[in-house]
Amino acid sequence: MSLLIDSIGELFTADDEGTIHYDAAIVIEDGRIAWVGHRLNRPAADEYFDADNKAMIPGFVDSHAHLVFAGDRSGEFAARMAGEPYTGGGIRTTVTATRAARDDRLRETCARLTAEMLRQGTTTVEIKSGYGLTVEDEARSLRIAGEFTTETTYLGAHTVPEGADGALMDADEYTALAAGPMLEACAPHAKWADVFCERGAFDGDQARAVLTASAAAGLGLRVHANQLTAGPGVRLAVELGAASADHCTHLTDSDVDDLANGGTVATLLPGAEFSTRSPYPDARRLLDAGARVALATDCNPGSSYTSSMAFCIALAVREMRMTPAEALEAATAAGADALRRTDIGRIEVGARADLVLLDAPSHVHLAYRPGTPLIDTVFRAGTAVS
Ligand code: NIG
Ligand code: FE
Repeated sequence: MSLLIDSIGELFTADDEGTIHYDAAIVIEDGRIAWVGHRLNRPAADEYFDADNKAMIPGFVDSHAHLVFAGDRSGEFAARMAGEPYTGGGIRTTVTATRAARDDRLRETCARLTAEMLRQGTTTVEIKSGYGLTVEDEARSLRIAGEFTTETTYLGAHTVPEGADGALMDADEYTALAAGPMLEACAPHAKWADVFCERGAFDGDQARAVLTASAAAGLGLRVHANQLTAGPGVRLAVELGAASADHCTHLTDSDVDDLANGGTVATLLPGAEFSTRSPYPDARRLLDAGARVALATDCNPGSSYTSSMAFCIALAVREMRMTPAEALEAATAAGADALRRTDIGRIEVGARADLVLLDAPSHVHLAYRPGTPLIDTVFRAGTAVS
């Protein structure tokens, strides 16, 4: 069965040349893009969809989200807006609520958030564990995440948790657990491993221990790096060949060089700076140095409770000196690169037909009309799903 999407006013492909077609058409066959070009050259197809001269873009790839959690931290957000700093300490509040929640409760939250994302044009999402922090609670978080995505990430090293006695565990002992028995239980359910490498969470040596053990267990690597301070996270991520270093808010010149010269994507999460009232990362500095820059939501109940990639694009354009086209590429093709995926995030022949028709004439409207719902139709693997 083939489908012709005709009369696309502007087609933002996010392909390697950054091609934008006008008056375009697409043919989809068996869920994949089979043809892209000017509508006057369009081939015939079994079914027809009229895009009504609106703009079409690739489905968003949200390469960083924490969706397996319970509880609410809106009070913490309100306190921050009144001047309290964000330290990451609130992670433990969510850990307590998550451990106490039944599976169905966690599943419901994941279902609600992934549906919310899909309605807003996100056709691929990565989901991390990290709010269980016991062997059993991390493994069940990943089992639940796996019901919603293939891009599952083991984040046992999110913070040093309280043990059964209610006291904070010793950081080195917990690191050994996260790099040992917890990893062993989680690896079958995870594609990736991540570590929060930060003062107050895991230092460079501890992060290295978890990441190297995870790589040995067959997992790809990602790192929460340089979010609150200019620590060793980015350096380590690049050295270990991680797919992505995420946050990248506080970078030294040598971190920027490493990202520009290595194979690690710099994933920026401006929802976190918005929600923690922190200075935004300098996307322009990274782009000008030649680094690959992605955008993701970091959707989580503490530092960034947004599921909207369009909101992140608007922030990146207004606050981080990205052009609308750069921000949209970062939210699609570069997000796919951050997951080492070549089959999504781009509109080109052979790619999965994950497409978003905007209720707008141009992709620029994503930033130009912030906060406005602009999603007309979402196609996942060629099927209109929303
Ligand atoms: O990416 N920084 C570490 N982890 C999350 C925040 C988690 C939380 O505050 O609950 C982040 O910002
Ligand atoms: Fe995060």
